[in-house]
Amino acid sequence: MGEGAKPENERRDERPVKEARRQFRAIKGTRDILPPDSALWNWFEKTARGVMESYNFAEIRLPIFEKTELFARSIGGDTDVVSKEMYTFKDQLDLDEVIDTDAKEGGHPTAESILSGEEVSPQWRNILDTRISLRPEATASVVRAYIEHGMQMLPGNAKLYYIGPMFRRERPQKGRYRQFYQIGAEVLGTSDAPAIDAELIQMLTDLLERCQIEKYTLLINSIGCAACRPKYVELLRAELRKPEIFSKLGADSQRRVETNPLRVMDSKLPEEQAIIEKLPKISEHLCEECRTHYEKLKRELTLREVPFTESPRLVRGLDYYMRTTFEITSPILGAQNALCGGGRYDGLVEMLGGPKGIKGIGFALGEDRFIDAIVEAHKIHATRPLDIFIAWMGERAYPTAVRLAHVLRDEKHRVELPAGEMKFRKALERADKLGARYVLIIGDDEIASDMLTIKRLSDGVQEKISEEALVDFFRPPALAKEGPGS
Ligand code: HAM
Repeated sequence: MGEGAKPENERRDERPVKEARRQFRAIKGTRDILPPDSALWNWFEKTARGVMESYNFAEIRLPIFEKTELFARSIGGDTDVVSKEMYTFKDQLDLDEVIDTDAKEGGHPTAESILSGEEVSPQWRNILDTRISLRPEATASVVRAYIEHGMQMLPGNAKLYYIGPMFRRERPQKGRYRQFYQIGAEVLGTSDAPAIDAELIQMLTDLLERCQIEKYTLLINSIGCAACRPKYVELLRAELRKPEIFSKLGADSQRRVETNPLRVMDSKLPEEQAIIEKLPKISEHLCEECRTHYEKLKRELTLREVPFTESPRLVRGLDYYMRTTFEITSPILGAQNALCGGGRYDGLVEMLGGPKGIKGIGFALGEDRFIDAIVEAHKIHATRPLDIFIAWMGERAYPTAVRLAHVLRDEKHRVELPAGEMKFRKALERADKLGARYVLIIGDDEIASDMLTIKRLSDGVQEKISEEALVDFFRPPALAKEGPGS
């Protein structure tokens, strides 16, 4: 480098930035879902809705953001989701009010005091209420809505499903995004019959079947209840505190020995795996009721011919779970192999201020990952061929082209009508590139003879047809509508 020369990074800093021409890119961890992939997403959502509605679930549409406290209380303050990954911001609030309250109250309430439900002053309540987060999951919102709308008054169980984006500030990689999409279902009501758990799981395996995803494993476990889990957690903590074990744990797990030792069980750190394998298993420490519930669940799954694998380590990453937990993983996905996860959360409604005795179970599947699995399984392709391209030539043909485009669109066909006149050869080329199945040709000859020309692009076969016969011509099987995007 000659004298006076600057390193590359400094030189770059000096370059004037042409603000007006700056290009924007999607924010890290978010992405655009473009055609033809979007057709596959639509097909998948339609299929999932169909399966869930066949089990008598109905859709609930939820807000994208909620009070931060709702997520903190339900998912748990020590989970990765709440402690590291939420997009949280303060809603509009007068800054003076915050400073004023801070001075009067002698500092902010601590995270623990908020989570333990300790009373806070009305002024602090106002401020806490202005903290909102983009939803990292939707179970908390469903439970909030269940309580808010008094759904316990409805006959039978509330069986709700949702579809939409969730937000977690995770390290992005294939299958892991900061804005990702979930399809989830929840059952809330007074019964915790294992048949409910099994039916919910069967609904998922039905969906996998419809998507022709064959390579997957259903993992199940029971993580006990308020009666048996605390004893097991103490046993686990005592084991993890042993110096020969503790010293081999990573920093996160070491911290969790005190805060939430169960979380150590689902650590993915390679060096911790051998230790975890030898730890006491919760399945061996369940109380009588939990053991019976778990045994019945297995019988109910067998009755439905749903194959499962028991996984004593499946504790799940959110705190609201009790008894049944499950996950479906697929080897075709790579590192982020969990297609979906769920479990029972019987105490959550009461914990969030709802009526006593309401039980709950649900799951959420990662739509991004399901789509990858469908594409990977090569059973369904992301295509949505164009049905009809209208090649019109000449001013006299144009009004007919406009009218017939409308008629065919009314019949639910996908029709492309070029906005400007095209030469015949160019129109055919364009139709071919767009993947059209038929070209409807309207030129001077067609107008003069009152007969239209239809060309099938797969084999080039061409025929004449009257306008009256047009609608019938394109009815199935000529344009059978099946598969993604239809
Ligand atoms: P979860 O295990 O945190 O559970 O997420 C469910 C699924 O969402 C995962 O199995 C995965 O497929 C997908 N997923 C999670 N994070 C990401 C990400 N960053 N990028 C892409 N996909 C992701 C829940 O959310 C619970 N609410 C499920 C539930 C409902 N339990 C009871 N009811």
